[in-house]
Amino acid sequence: MDIKPYGKYAKAMILLRWIMKANTVDKLDSPILYDFYNQVIKRKVDKTIFSSIEALRKGYLNDQRIIDLTDHGAGSAFKSAHKRTISSVASSAVSSSSKCELLYKSCQHFGYKNGLELGTSLGISALYMKAAHHGTRLTTIEGDPMIGELAKATLEKEDIRAITGTFDKVLPQLDIEKCIYDLVYIDGGHRSDLIEKAMHLLGPVTTQQTVLIIDDIYWSADMTQAWKDLKASSYYNVAIDLWHFGLLYYDERVKEDIDIKMSPVDKRWTFGFFR
Ligand SMILES: C[S@@+](CC[C@H](N)C(=O)[O-])C[C@H]1O[C@@H](n2cnc3c(N)ncnc32)[C@H](O)[C@@H]1O
Repeated sequence: MDIKPYGKYAKAMILLRWIMKANTVDKLDSPILYDFYNQVIKRKVDKTIFSSIEALRKGYLNDQRIIDLTDHGAGSAFKSAHKRTISSVASSAVSSSSKCELLYKSCQHFGYKNGLELGTSLGISALYMKAAHHGTRLTTIEGDPMIGELAKATLEKEDIRAITGTFDKVLPQLDIEKCIYDLVYIDGGHRSDLIEKAMHLLGPVTTQQTVLIIDDIYWSADMTQAWKDLKASSYYNVAIDLWHFGLLYYDERVKEDIDIKMSPVDKRWTFGFFR
């Protein structure tokens, strides 16, 4: 399976096919999905609540300081050149504001108490996750020492635990804490073998009640296959594909497995959603 990201043309074709197949609200026959649709897709949020996070993003986008990156070989955008400006990291590795807003609403919908993010980068998505639930515990892991330390300074002020280290080193340490995570966002290591490894290491610190969010499921053929394999696992009975990321969880009210691509109400306007 090809681990290289889809080219622009292939991605556009995949997106078109995705839109054709995606269900619109009138096709959502389950109350669980209808509820998710109302809370996560349809609900408008006052964007001013994100203004301090977006100001931080803007600061990073204008930051020309050069940092040395460590390549994890995990679908990193920085495979060959290890010296990058913070600005280029902010523009290529950090989730867009629309994706972060969707993540924020997903976190609010599921109401996590103890969240975990794999792949902090500069900490923008972690700040959105924390904004969804200020009183909760959130841990985020970043393998790149320079980026990790940079993010840590900001995240700790917001009571987010930022750990620098690779997933395979840090996840076994989390197990020692005997603490269960009820929502996990995987946004690092965009390769099926790395996702599989991370899932294995997450086993002891998650349960069937954990909501799993997998980012960039349409990043490469390999990532799309990883998403399909995870969906096929009998562990979860609900799979919601929002294009930007996929959500997997188990809901005891669900009698027949749900596997859905969920589009906003009117497909004619869907493109605005995919920025
Ligand atoms: C796409 S970025 C995360 C973006 C961030 N979640 C956001 O939207 O603000 C992925 C990050 O995961 C980190 N990463 C990739 N593989 C890793 C690994 N095996 N262990 C730890 N971090 C890793 C990369 O260094 C990179 O900073």
